[in-house]
Amino acid sequence: MSSDEPSIGRRYLQETRYRREGLGERGPAYPAVPRFKEYPQASQRLVLDPAPGPAAADLWACLRERRSLRQYRERALSLEELTALVWAAQGVTLAGHPHLLRTAPSAGALYPVETYLAVHRVTGVDPGIWHLHIPDFALELLNPGDCRRALVEACLSQNFLGAGAVVFIWTGILNRAMSKYRERAIRYLFLDAGHICQNLMLAATALGLGCCPVGAFFDEEVEQLTQVDGQEEVALYLAAVGAVEGR
Ligand SMILES: Cc1cc2nc3c(=O)[nH]c(=O)nc-3n(C[C@H](O)[C@H](O)[C@H](O)COP(=O)(O)O)c2cc1C
Repeated sequence: MSSDEPSIGRRYLQETRYRREGLGERGPAYPAVPRFKEYPQASQRLVLDPAPGPAAADLWACLRERRSLRQYRERALSLEELTALVWAAQGVTLAGHPHLLRTAPSAGALYPVETYLAVHRVTGVDPGIWHLHIPDFALELLNPGDCRRALVEACLSQNFLGAGAVVFIWTGILNRAMSKYRERAIRYLFLDAGHICQNLMLAATALGLGCCPVGAFFDEEVEQLTQVDGQEEVALYLAAVGAVEGR
């Protein structure tokens, strides 16, 4: 590649800019896919109860105190804590809307980001990889068992991924967003994931827990853990959560 040829990342940003001279459709059209993913074959299903929320927290204090924390205590999370975290990340706040509007914004209300949990230590929840079913606010067990070692390895040997109580894993379903926004949709996938993760971090802070986002991972290994194909649904982002000292 010659040095004056723009790199793939720069080309992507240039080629997906909205320009006044033409917002017309460019590039191939992509098929619509279902708005919600579900696993009817899941070996366990756990419907979460979002009703009894934890004690109120001061938003400004949470913004001040939010930090990426990577040292976790042994303590398991309670189901109530897990429920609050999941709700903060992707809870439905306008159930009457056809897209089930959530705690985090999403471009075009398409919600291309799927949430999976690697549960290590949550009271009353079996360890394993779970998927969040949005309409029922339910966890679906995809792969039972201890996945700590695989997760640490998938995340470039960052040990805190195995030390926390739960790891949130976010993937993106490309056509759910590309069917409307074509190539520009890829920008929105990452923006959506960022909003979700910040909600999670603030909720973890409000609950006195520690949380750390993770963007360094071997994509294919995370996709294997979540059983997604890495083509139509790809790994985007993770975040570890656990109990911490002094909170
Ligand atoms: C997109 C993104 C990816 C990140 N990836 C990692 C990671 O792989 N490992 C890690 O330890 N921290 C990771 N972090 C956390 C940052 O290191 C952290 O946000 C930064 O040092 C600022 O500290 P603070 O979050 O405590 O304010 C990531 C943060 C972001 C926003």
